[in-house]
Amino acid sequence: MSLIELKNLTLGYDKDIILKHINMSIDENDFICIVGPNGSGKSTLVKGILGLIKPIKGKVIYNGLKQNFIGYMPQETKVDSSFPASVYEIVLSGTLNSNEYKLFYTKKQKEEADKNLKILGIENLKNKCFCDLSGGQRQKVLLARSLCATSKLLILDEPSNNLDSKSKADLYKTINDLNKNYGITIIMITHDLDHDNLIGNKILSLRENDIFFGSVDEFVRRIHND
Ligand SMILES: Nc1ncnc2c1ncn2[C@@H]1O[C@H](COP(=O)(O)OP(=O)(O)OP(=O)(O)O)[C@@H](O)[C@H]1O
Ligand SMILES: [Mg+2]
Repeated sequence: MSLIELKNLTLGYDKDIILKHINMSIDENDFICIVGPNGSGKSTLVKGILGLIKPIKGKVIYNGLKQNFIGYMPQETKVDSSFPASVYEIVLSGTLNSNEYKLFYTKKQKEEADKNLKILGIENLKNKCFCDLSGGQRQKVLLARSLCATSKLLILDEPSNNLDSKSKADLYKTINDLNKNYGITIIMITHDLDHDNLIGNKILSLRENDIFFGSVDEFVRRIHND
């Protein structure tokens, strides 16, 4: 079943058009990698899917999925690395989409945060300060936070940025596990198509005048025929 459909979507800022006529269906259990050069509009597309920018033309159709129940990990997350927040506080804040107007976290929200710390194998970091973590650990904490917003769809904008090869492999394994074993649909922007551990069933490739959306196999055949 399709969770989200993009129909002839054109996106941009003011009068500047960045992406034209994008058609794409995001189906349940998909793992879609979005690739393309710097400035090709990958993050812009994700903002369009999340409803953070309005289409210039075309539309985004949500099938039984509310926009604020999509987990989102932005390209640069504004958690000041010296800010003295605990891992638990950061992960818990991911549940705020479900009760923006309450003063305290509910038991259910706390259970959700604990569950996601466990799924990502970082319960041991719960009481540590975010400021004392390594880059790879921080990305997992931010992933756990975005997971608190959703049980269906995670959108990750270059989650492996600045990680070494081993940490990348570990993070990709975790994301793959969320897709395969927890039924979370994934959209991930990445520059790592050649990484051994990269996974996914579909690819959206954004290049000027050459937009491709299809299976990984088709994409590989296309590259070899170039
Ligand atoms: N808020 C904004 N206002 C105006 N133009 C913007 C804005 N954000 C991005 N752009 C422009 O839109 C184009 C696409 O940017 P975008 O961030 O979507 O690219 P990207 O593919 O994610 O690049 P990268 O790989 O570097 O992250 C760029 O030319 C950028 O300058
Ligand atoms: Mg980007």
